Amino acid sequence: MRCRVCGKKAVYKELGFCSEHFSSYFEKNVADVLNKPFFKEKSLLLAVSGGKDSSAMMFAVSKILSEKRLDFNIKRIESLYINLGIKDNSSYNENLVKQLSEKTGIKLNTINLEEFYNLTIDDLSQKTGKICSSCAVIKRYLLNKFAYENGFDFVLIGHNLDDELFFAIHNLVNRNIDFLVRSAKILPKDEEKRLAGRVKPLYYLTEKESMLYCIINKIPFSTQGCPYAVKNLQMTEKSKQSVLFDSRNKKLSFIKSINKLKKFYPLKKEDNVEPCIRCGFPTTSKICKFCRIIEKAKEN
Ligand code: AMP
Ligand code: FES
Ligand code: ZN
Ligand code: ZN
Repeated sequence: MRCRVCGKKAVYKELGFCSEHFSSYFEKNVADVLNKPFFKEKSLLLAVSGGKDSSAMMFAVSKILSEKRLDFNIKRIESLYINLGIKDNSSYNENLVKQLSEKTGIKLNTINLEEFYNLTIDDLSQKTGKICSSCAVIKRYLLNKFAYENGFDFVLIGHNLDDELFFAIHNLVNRNIDFLVRSAKILPKDEEKRLAGRVKPLYYLTEKESMLYCIINKIPFSTQGCPYAVKNLQMTEKSKQSVLFDSRNKKLSFIKSINKLKKFYPLKKEDNVEPCIRCGFPTTSKICKFCRIIEKAKEN
């Protein structure tokens, strides 16, 4: 098969692109998400895990900015890695994101959970068993806290089209329509609630595409995966999904249809959100989930 743009050998058969035109296609999809006037003169924080998606995101964003492909300037861009204290995994990934930071010239910040909170995911897992949901709370909280306290307007995360598809189907099956309606490609900043905005630059791109982009551009990324995620629900469901949604176009059409339907469903205001009495960040109970995790870990 030949590239539909230049006729060279295609490396991405699904859409018919050579490596050069595949990279252009990937970067165009990322640039389209960011090329919105409300990002003008804003400060952006890239959340990097060392995995293929956030590594591809960081490389593509750095290329788009260095080649001045947006219609405006952004004020500042940096990245953040949270070292969760997972044996054989967190330090290895930290090293990969350091290499990526050198390759792109984007400053890397790190938070070490053990140093800051005297806690590791390994300890927590031994104490509580199930770990993925607590880990997700910790990551989300720290990304927001760091962004908010250091003047970043938006956190950029590596969620891709396959993640969106999983999220949409999972919430439909569980009748969590309010939850589904609240998720979005771009969530605005809410200064009053101490919430930085969140952006998903890979919203229109699949997992397979992130992987190919990393390989073509020799981007350092980890293939290890989290040791606690061996049998997690998301991985099992995603492999089932890929049977029914066997092309990027089907995934995209489904998400676009969901987004059209969302417009007819009223967004319920979360009026019971208040500042956590311990840390001041927003919560729907008196003490936020993050503070409860830290307190529980101290008790044991
Ligand atoms: P996950 O929740 O593991 O699927 O990761 C989703 C996104 O969250 C990644 O693509 C990253 O943008 C971000 N992320 C995950 N883990 C970390 C980490 N340890 N440090 C910083 N950002 C992370
Ligand atoms: Fe948090 Fe795996 S990355 S439990
Ligand atoms: Zn080509
Ligand atoms: Zn709190």
